[in-house]
Amino acid sequence: MNKPKRYTITAALPYTNGPIHIGHLAGVYVPADIYARFLRATGNDVAYICGSDEHGVAIPMRAKKEGVSPQDIIDKYHGIIKNSFADFGISFDNYSRTSAEIHHKTASDFFQKLYKDGEFIEEVTEQLYDEEANQYLADRFVIGTCPKCGNEESYGDQCEKCGTSHNATDLINPKSAITGNIPTLKETKHWFLPLDKHEDFLREWILEGHKNDWKPNVLGQVKSWIDDGLRPRAVTRDLDWGIPVPVEGADGKVLYVWFDAPIGYISSTKEWAEREGKNWEDYWKKDDTKLVHFIGKDNIVFHCIIFPAMLKAHGNYILPENVPANEFLNLEGNKLSTSKNWAVWLHEYLEEFPGQQDVLRYTLTANAPENKDNDFTWKDFQAKNNNELVAVFGNFINRVVVLTNKYYNGIVPTPADFSDIDQDVLDQLKEFPNSIAKSIERYRFREASQEMMNLARLGNKYLADEEPWKVIKEDEERVKTIMYVALQIAAGLAVVSEPFLPFTSSKLKNILNLNTAELNHKWVDISEKNVLLPANHQVNKGELLFAKIEDKTIQIQLDKLEATKKANEAANKEVEPQKETIQFDDFTKIDIRVGTIIEAEKVAKTKKLLKLTVDVGIDTRTIVSGIAESFKPEDIIGQQVTVLCNLAPRKLRGVESQGMILMTDTPEGKLAFMEPKGKVINGSQVC
Ligand code: 2FM
Ligand code: ZN
Repeated sequence: MNKPKRYTITAALPYTNGPIHIGHLAGVYVPADIYARFLRATGNDVAYICGSDEHGVAIPMRAKKEGVSPQDIIDKYHGIIKNSFADFGISFDNYSRTSAEIHHKTASDFFQKLYKDGEFIEEVTEQLYDEEANQYLADRFVIGTCPKCGNEESYGDQCEKCGTSHNATDLINPKSAITGNIPTLKETKHWFLPLDKHEDFLREWILEGHKNDWKPNVLGQVKSWIDDGLRPRAVTRDLDWGIPVPVEGADGKVLYVWFDAPIGYISSTKEWAEREGKNWEDYWKKDDTKLVHFIGKDNIVFHCIIFPAMLKAHGNYILPENVPANEFLNLEGNKLSTSKNWAVWLHEYLEEFPGQQDVLRYTLTANAPENKDNDFTWKDFQAKNNNELVAVFGNFINRVVVLTNKYYNGIVPTPADFSDIDQDVLDQLKEFPNSIAKSIERYRFREASQEMMNLARLGNKYLADEEPWKVIKEDEERVKTIMYVALQIAAGLAVVSEPFLPFTSSKLKNILNLNTAELNHKWVDISEKNVLLPANHQVNKGELLFAKIEDKTIQIQLDKLEATKKANEAANKEVEPQKETIQFDDFTKIDIRVGTIIEAEKVAKTKKLLKLTVDVGIDTRTIVSGIAESFKPEDIIGQQVTVLCNLAPRKLRGVESQGMILMTDTPEGKLAFMEPKGKVINGSQVC
């Protein structure tokens, strides 16, 4: 398309069934934010749109598990998610929610229009049904084997492993996620969007029209679905959570969440336009608007096939110019998982790294899963911070600001003639906005972030080569020129870093005192103006932009993940099969009593053994127990324990043990005493 007049940028609406983590940020919200900030900085009209997706089946499921209402769940997580986005500087123009009235109306109207235009097939078909739960099993309510890749844990509507979107009845060996029962088939009426009818248009529009500008991973998935043959997709469900189907004879039925959620982009735009006095239709119906959907790879089918088919069937709507879907981010080698708590949650990150949003934004961008799945590791996070943000960006700014304050009380010096090197550096500075822009316009945010850092590298190298701190001793005039050139680079950096590091850019603009009417530079000014910081301009004192992250800080995060891993292993541990049957007489031979530990010490030269003195009511005896790695001796004095008293004594490392303390494992994989609930008399029998 020719140069667009305006941009509608959407970021996938997150489900409100849990907080958001680094995977969400890396895959969708940071790249979309860089794009939106860049477009605003280059003078474009932008609507950056998002909101909470509140009708997913996972929401009532979570509510059931927590014993609260679905409304409680969406209110809680809508708030947490919205705050996390704001905390990380994600600059949505509007963040709405699909439970909003405006959305219910927009989605209902959309459905009704397609219904009236005869764009649906209305059909009674057999759907999976759980007789015990008295419920049809749609989407996440059913789990089975994916017919495409064999994943045994595919959901009814989509396999998370291979991304295929299917009908629940396609699953092999389906099981109810509510009761675990094998579902029966029961007739029910639904409305289907005949995707097959749109196949030729989709093939032409995407596989021909966008073969050169869409990402290969997106084109690959689209081609595979179209080649497999598109089939009608049900866009209604038998559920009690969602937007009621707005036609006669649809009691107890709601819109499929993937029918209503993308319409959420439109409702959110309407909400924004109403507030800002704009016309929402300009952003969705005019050909000179560029619509771009930022999503993760699991959302490709919905944004490239189903939603465009809906928009096309409705008529008048524009279609996306691009859908730059990202692959997935892993964490320390494993798939991010909300249910397994294998994640770095944004709200927790901020508690542990207060004020360091840009460090995470930068790390996730520099290592974004743009073309393949990528791994987030804490060591890499530390390295990106210490070796790039601190050592390159921070160091350059710090040197420029400190020296300007030291030599000139913060006043930009007047330069003499520029040397060839100075001129070359100033020429290079002018090129940076263009090269960064080129990468961003091609959705190459990793490359763009590296180019931005290269500008700081240029500044650092210039100072290291010119050594103003040495030259000052013999040629004060020359130092004025060096510092003047370095200050121009610092000002350029303040502008081009804004999409990537908005908090840092804002601090830097304050330090350089760039917030004045004349010096509030735009992106293009870096290339077009010869002077960004004029002589005699006053800059402020410096402040720390980035701080070194120590090994011990990283170790805390690694330990946290290790604990999660252990807890997951313990939770998944198979329960040991029952031992051989014994007779009652055998049982009566066992003498188990409650006792109290009165002394404890380590057994010399062992790692695991503690020598305990235990009052078991009958006597006070010595018991050697392998619990030293889990408990400190001083912490367990007074602890009540369960003791197998009549176990034949045996020597362990030279100490005779007269019994055994009974222990179990906690879900976190730790040892735990079997203690009575409330104090009991020592010697009480367990039988
Ligand atoms: O995958 C998800 O998290 C979905 N909630 C994304 C929805 S995007 C849009 F279409 F609303
Ligand atoms: Zn699959």
